[in-house]
Amino acid sequence: MFSCSASSIRVLSHCQEAFEIALPQGSGITVVIMPVTPTPLVKLCYIVASKQHVTMLSIKPGEKTIFTFSCQKPENHFVIEIQKNIDCMSGPCPFGEVQLQPSTSVLPALNRTFIWDVKAHKSIGLELQFSVPRLRQVGPGESCPDGVTHSISGRIDATVVRIGTFCSNGTVSRIKMQEGMKMALHLPWFHTRNVSGFSIANRSSIKRLCIIESVFEGEGSATLMSANYPEGFPEDELMTWQFVVPAHLRASVSFLSFNVSNCEKKEERVEYYIPGSTTNPEVFKLEDKQPGNMAGNFNLSLQGCDQDAQSPGILRLQFQVLVQHPQNESYKIYVVDLSNERTMSLTIEPRPVKQSRKFVPGCFVCLESRTCSTNLTLTPGSTYKVSFLCDDLTRLWMNAEKTISCTDHRYCYRKSYSLQVPGDILQLPVQLHDFSWKLLVPKDRLSLVLVPAQKLQQHTHERPCNTSFSYLVASAVPDQDLYFGSFCVGGSIEQIQVKQNVSVTLRTFAPSFRQEASRQGLTVSFVHYFKEEGVFTVTPDTKNKVYLRTPNWDRGLPSLASVSWNISVPSNQVACLTFLKERTGVVCQTGRAFMIIQEQQTRAEEVFSLEDEVLPKPRFHHHSFWVNISNCSPTSGKQLDLLFWVALTPRTIDMTVVLIAAIGGGALLLFALGLIICFVKKKKKKANKGPAVGIYNGNINTEMPKQPKKFQKGRKDNDSHVYAVIDDTMVYGHLLQDSNGSFLQQEVDTYRPFQGAMGDCPPSPPVICSRAPTAKLTTDEPSPCFPPESESELYTFSHPNNGDVSKANKGPAVGIYNGNSTDIPWLDIQEPVEPAE
Ligand SMILES: *[C@@H]1O[C@H](CO)[C@@H](O)[C@H](O)[C@H]1NC(C)=O
Ligand SMILES: *[C@@H]1O[C@H](CO)[C@@H](O)[C@H](O)[C@H]1NC(C)=O
Ligand SMILES: *[C@@H]1O[C@H](CO)[C@@H](O)[C@H](O)[C@H]1NC(C)=O
Ligand SMILES: *[C@@H]1O[C@H](CO)[C@@H](O)[C@H](O)[C@H]1NC(C)=O
Ligand SMILES: *[C@@H]1O[C@H](CO)[C@@H](O)[C@H](O)[C@H]1NC(C)=O
Ligand SMILES: *[C@@H]1O[C@H](CO)[C@@H](O)[C@H](O)[C@H]1NC(C)=O
Ligand SMILES: *[C@@H]1O[C@H](CO)[C@@H](O)[C@H](O)[C@H]1NC(C)=O
Ligand SMILES: *[C@@H]1O[C@H](CO)[C@@H](O)[C@H](O)[C@H]1NC(C)=O
Ligand SMILES: *[C@@H]1O[C@H](CO)[C@@H](O)[C@H](O)[C@H]1NC(C)=O
Ligand SMILES: *[C@@H]1O[C@H](CO)[C@@H](O)[C@H](O)[C@H]1NC(C)=O
Ligand SMILES: *[C@@H]1O[C@H](CO)[C@@H](O)[C@H](O)[C@H]1NC(C)=O
Repeated sequence: MFSCSASSIRVLSHCQEAFEIALPQGSGITVVIMPVTPTPLVKLCYIVASKQHVTMLSIKPGEKTIFTFSCQKPENHFVIEIQKNIDCMSGPCPFGEVQLQPSTSVLPALNRTFIWDVKAHKSIGLELQFSVPRLRQVGPGESCPDGVTHSISGRIDATVVRIGTFCSNGTVSRIKMQEGMKMALHLPWFHTRNVSGFSIANRSSIKRLCIIESVFEGEGSATLMSANYPEGFPEDELMTWQFVVPAHLRASVSFLSFNVSNCEKKEERVEYYIPGSTTNPEVFKLEDKQPGNMAGNFNLSLQGCDQDAQSPGILRLQFQVLVQHPQNESYKIYVVDLSNERTMSLTIEPRPVKQSRKFVPGCFVCLESRTCSTNLTLTPGSTYKVSFLCDDLTRLWMNAEKTISCTDHRYCYRKSYSLQVPGDILQLPVQLHDFSWKLLVPKDRLSLVLVPAQKLQQHTHERPCNTSFSYLVASAVPDQDLYFGSFCVGGSIEQIQVKQNVSVTLRTFAPSFRQEASRQGLTVSFVHYFKEEGVFTVTPDTKNKVYLRTPNWDRGLPSLASVSWNISVPSNQVACLTFLKERTGVVCQTGRAFMIIQEQQTRAEEVFSLEDEVLPKPRFHHHSFWVNISNCSPTSGKQLDLLFWVALTPRTIDMTVVLIAAIGGGALLLFALGLIICFVKKKKKKANKGPAVGIYNGNINTEMPKQPKKFQKGRKDNDSHVYAVIDDTMVYGHLLQDSNGSFLQQEVDTYRPFQGAMGDCPPSPPVICSRAPTAKLTTDEPSPCFPPESESELYTFSHPNNGDVSKANKGPAVGIYNGNSTDIPWLDIQEPVEPAE
């Protein structure tokens, strides 16, 4: 046996390679070559150093040793351990890139373990930084494909805590510890790696056992474990994992296995910091379903507890983070071009939801796919590329606003603008909540006319809108509380004129707006100033009653405001105008509240005091007419609030047809009663035509002709309302739930529950004046319901059975029920009037 030169690392066929290891003084490095398993192999192979056969060789700082092996394959019998102690307590810490020392080129090709043992003060944080390809944690018993492992441990006082074992090629980029750490890098003998692949930096205290950072460059997953896994996590400790996730991807956490200990004090839990969450930190029990579909960087902390000394149990956790492309929203980019807009802005924001402890994953709107936030406002003048990172886009909605203002009345007069939701907004995969146009005109100079592309219906309780969107028209004058109402397509209102600044808001109620969007469209024109707050042009059709209601609904028409309805009656039709209530109940403080009904052709008008007079009975109009209402300044009690409806019937009704129909239906009695429904009444003529201003009051003949008092029972002014506000969401409630059930229910005002007697019949719009054939009545109004008796019974109708009339007849609205069980109600409640020609 002979040795070769110590400096040579070539393996010669006729000799054993000799190695020289010299460790500088003060390097803190110790090298130990030891047998894999202590005894049995000893006879097969020895280390030959200083001509001695040894089974173990230890080289300390300041020593130099030359040695060979006595066998051909020492890697099968020996391993080498190179430990470097770094003491940051006594001297400066050598931070930075960590070298493999001594260089792997001088070491024998044995399995090597480089160990760095860093001791530091409790207050100093140590950070291990791993270069690409980073590390992947493996569980107990798992091995790494290339045989390279990193075993990392920390210290709590004198106790060693295993942080974990890691292979190359993973996501773990940094590990922070405090109070020292130990890193063991195992390189198999055949591995050519000559760099450590990490550096050490000092950090301030991290105030916990450790922080492990994982960086995802793309889709991928990482499995991570609590310290000491599968043994118990140290008592009352805190460990954090940070995750860096590209903005366009989403992360989900799932716990693969865990156990909880028996806590005496505190609770074991995990806490998340999730971008976009309003309830950070999100606290979960280990048993809970963990969050998924998180966009953006997040962190997760495991917090232990004070364990029961007798039966501590064991806290441990193994979990997986899966990072992938968003699953349901394709990674699509939407272009929103606001470059030609000057006054339009769009906000995409979370729908307001009730705060709950339930976890909601992040939901983001991104610009250029890079900057993501929970709330994005696009301002005019630019083009935007918008994308979404959100598990459920119904959690978002958008609101847009556009201002159309006129500063110079000479320039704007007669100009028109189209109010349309732009296609760029409609294409976005998020529900449009509101699109508001603020229409501003110079004070006292111009007024506005809104002409819808399709005629509108006013939303009332009697005839609720069921379309997927409505226009909400409200005053935009500061301090003016005036809401004209909610209007949807498919009605009889041809135009709405408003005196001054208004906001017109297109509000959607259902996802089906996307399909119905073609029905939207309003044109606004600037016209000469007028003094009514609003003028509605109504052209009823023969099919449906038109329900109309004063602005502001139950809150009452504003003081001294006047509103008019221009109601067209086609030449071959006759219109029946009916008021819901018999009185308004309004009490004026100053001024007087009046209503004028004026035939447009003859200009004949009737004036009604809304304070003390009963409202007109149902009556027929053969020609187009005005309903003009003018408010006083009411006392704080009952406000002025009117609901009326117009129904068209063909002008020539041959009474014999009715008679035959009635007899044919076997209801002669009914007919006889029906004949008295409508009869001609002489109309009051008034010569005094007051100017059409919000002050009819001044010109009104205060000598109001008294109506015969049909209804003796007085009404209290403080009558409570059945409902306070008809909230759109209440009426549209059924539309908020789409087929997937994904629309969120909003808070709604509730109706006062019905307390009176209820028959078999559901509440329905009251059946009042009709001169139409009785047969028609039954088909039009299938519910055999009696009309409301008073305001507080708006939606409650009594349905007396045979012979039960007197009992049901609570008020003046006398119901006579047909005993022949034909289910046709007969009403003689109000005396119909027909205007004289
Ligand atoms: C050397 O390391 C490799 C990879 O970790 C392992 O498979 C082999 O058993 C080790 N050899 C000895 C002698 O420990
Ligand atoms: C690193 O991981 C990726 C994905 O997990 C795999 O495709 C690749 O082969 C791995 N490389 C090595 C050297 O293990
Ligand atoms: C490691 O080996 C590569 C070649 O494989 C070499 O270029 C590099 O200089 C070596 N680094 C060290 C620190 O020895
Ligand atoms: C890191 O170490 C340097 C020098 O050893 C020291 O000046 C610095 O304050 C340390 N930083 C922290 C965060 O401990
Ligand atoms: C750990 O939890 C599993 C169920 O999650 C249970 O089967 C097992 O017994 C627990 N182990 C210990 C040591 O408590
Ligand atoms: C976790 O994330 C939150 C929010 O980004 C941050 O304030 C906190 O410092 C992080 N904690 C750790 C330990 O990384
Ligand atoms: C979104 O931002 C707008 C404007 O900054 C703000 O008015 C709105 O309240 C924000 N919405 C949410 C949900 O944060
Ligand atoms: C309507 O808005 C315009 C522009 O802001 C303003 O000049 C005008 O005074 C407003 N009209 C009223 C009645 O406030
Ligand atoms: C809405 O109501 C009208 C009648 O008022 C009816 O013809 C239509 O089918 C309804 N549409 C929906 C979606 O319910
Ligand atoms: C009333 O309405 C009719 C029908 O739309 C219209 O022809 C007429 O001009 C309107 N009258 C006024 C004063 O606006
Ligand atoms: C009713 O109002 C309209 C529109 O404002 C007006 O043209 C008409 O003259 C008014 N009629 C009366 C009698 O005041």
